[in-house]
Amino acid sequence: MKNIFKMGVGALALSLTFMGADFSVVDAKEKHKDILNVAHRGASGYAPEHTITSYKMGEKMHGDYIEVDLQMTKDGELIAMHDETLDRTTNGTGQVKDFTLEEIKQLDAGSWFNEKYPEQAKAEYEGLQVPTLEEVFETFGKNANYYIETKSPEVYPGMEQKLVDVVNEYGINKDKLLVQSFSSESLLKMNEIDHSVKLVQLLDYTSPAELTDKEVQSIKQYAMGIGPNSDMIDQEYVQKAVQNGLEIHPYTVNEKEEMQKLIDWGVTGIFTNFPDLLHEVIKGK
Ligand code: G3P
Ligand code: CA
Repeated sequence: MKNIFKMGVGALALSLTFMGADFSVVDAKEKHKDILNVAHRGASGYAPEHTITSYKMGEKMHGDYIEVDLQMTKDGELIAMHDETLDRTTNGTGQVKDFTLEEIKQLDAGSWFNEKYPEQAKAEYEGLQVPTLEEVFETFGKNANYYIETKSPEVYPGMEQKLVDVVNEYGINKDKLLVQSFSSESLLKMNEIDHSVKLVQLLDYTSPAELTDKEVQSIKQYAMGIGPNSDMIDQEYVQKAVQNGLEIHPYTVNEKEEMQKLIDWGVTGIFTNFPDLLHEVIKGK
């Protein structure tokens, strides 16, 4: 597993200028070193997202981090699910917040994938369960790299405290834990509850993005990195983040050509549904 603190060299190389000369072109090998391969919802291009099967496949396919989106049940349990509703990824219907864990555990979280992606379908995906965060920790242990997102925190008061409680209960290695959110309020709450948890601010741009000095300074108060949508950023954006000491992990990148371009621009990690493809790009295959 890669250590996120090893990634300073690229940033340093990107920022070096001397007598007007720009040394921003870092050696290609250097650029490929320590790019975090984040298995987005597990290896969700191959298996039903946010199932233990998908996460295991992500690890097997050289994902460095297991990405886990969190929702909270009616009885206050954290579960791994992207949507606020059950409809897309289970055979249930309605809001997660209106169902108990016991009820959600009855649902089939795999068959939808077989129907939607017949070319990837497998009989073993039928009947897979929605995992709790606790089950994810039990399965992968305290020393795995988890990249956990607080989803819809405004819908789930107390979600951040519950997350920290579960992390502490399972003795999760906080050096290997990243918590991400689109909600800066949620990240600030995390920061307040447990200052030692490393945070990433997700950003969702609807037009070509510019990273302002004000934004950088504000985010640096609480987060060690940013996660922008990959389709709205350019090289200047990436370099500004890196030069200012921010990790930058764009989402969600599923084409090798796009992965290569982002690595050449200097990103320090990438979210992908196909960690095997990113692994090949990182290895120069
Ligand atoms: O967490 C990075 C990326 O996953 C954010 O988008 O909607 O896939 O959670 P989403
Ligand atoms: Ca996510």
